[in-house]
Amino acid sequence: MNIGIIGSGRMGSGLGKIWSKRHRIYFSYSRDYAKLKALAHSCLDAQAATPAEAVAASEVVLLSAPWTTVADALREAGPMDGKVLIDCTNPLLPDLSGLSLGLTTSAAEEIAGMAPGAKVVKAFNTAFAEIYHGESRLFGSRRLTMFYCGDDHQAKATVVRLILETGLDPIDAGPLAAARYLEPLAMLMIQLGYGMDMGSNIGISLIHR
Ligand SMILES: NC(=O)c1ccc[n+]([C@@H]2O[C@H](COP(=O)([O-])OP(=O)(O)OC[C@H]3O[C@@H](n4cnc5c(N)ncnc54)[C@H](OP(=O)(O)O)[C@@H]3O)[C@@H](O)[C@H]2O)c1
Repeated sequence: MNIGIIGSGRMGSGLGKIWSKRHRIYFSYSRDYAKLKALAHSCLDAQAATPAEAVAASEVVLLSAPWTTVADALREAGPMDGKVLIDCTNPLLPDLSGLSLGLTTSAAEEIAGMAPGAKVVKAFNTAFAEIYHGESRLFGSRRLTMFYCGDDHQAKATVVRLILETGLDPIDAGPLAAARYLEPLAMLMIQLGYGMDMGSNIGISLIHR
């Protein structure tokens, strides 16, 4: 399938590179178009695009822009009716000291409001981008858990496929409003990684019995 990436930094480039082994990727949203071209050139099947071109060409869109630029990025992207919109953003304060919203809403729900008609699925927000740039997503023999949530079953099935292709273990966290729990979980990872100096080579794995 075709996947548009809006925000081609650490998250967008890492996931886009992995997905380009099976899908056509459209990298977009940068202040430097030459960077998008170079990134696309380094992938198996990818090209640089504007956000509007990336969305128009794709069934699935990854929103991987900083929270402070999300409204601008979505404006540039234009209408998203019927698209699966994967939201990996975290609504971080500019100094990364905490979240700018939560409890009564989430970045995912705000994004659903800004992109009417899109089938928004929250995913990929609880693992550090470095994980996607390494050779493997395995920690020893263990897979990382990737929680996802959303209100559209078909869109969630598409995201499950991408989570599996990324080498992660998908766990359904329920409706899109469950992003109110997934975004603070990402904040915990940032606190552990940077506040407690554990670094970015850490991840979450859920245990069942
Ligand atoms: N990094 C992580 O470990 C991680 C993990 C989970 C979730 N997330 C979330 O994922 C999202 C992306 O994070 P990231 O670390 O990938 O960010 P990043 O490396 O800073 O990449 C951001 C992307 O957005 C573009 N951008 C920023 N401001 C722009 C503007 N004004 N106009 C046009 N393009 C602009 C950047 O382009 P240029 O810089 O090339 O201009 C870059 O392509 C964030 O919401 C973050 O909270 C990050």
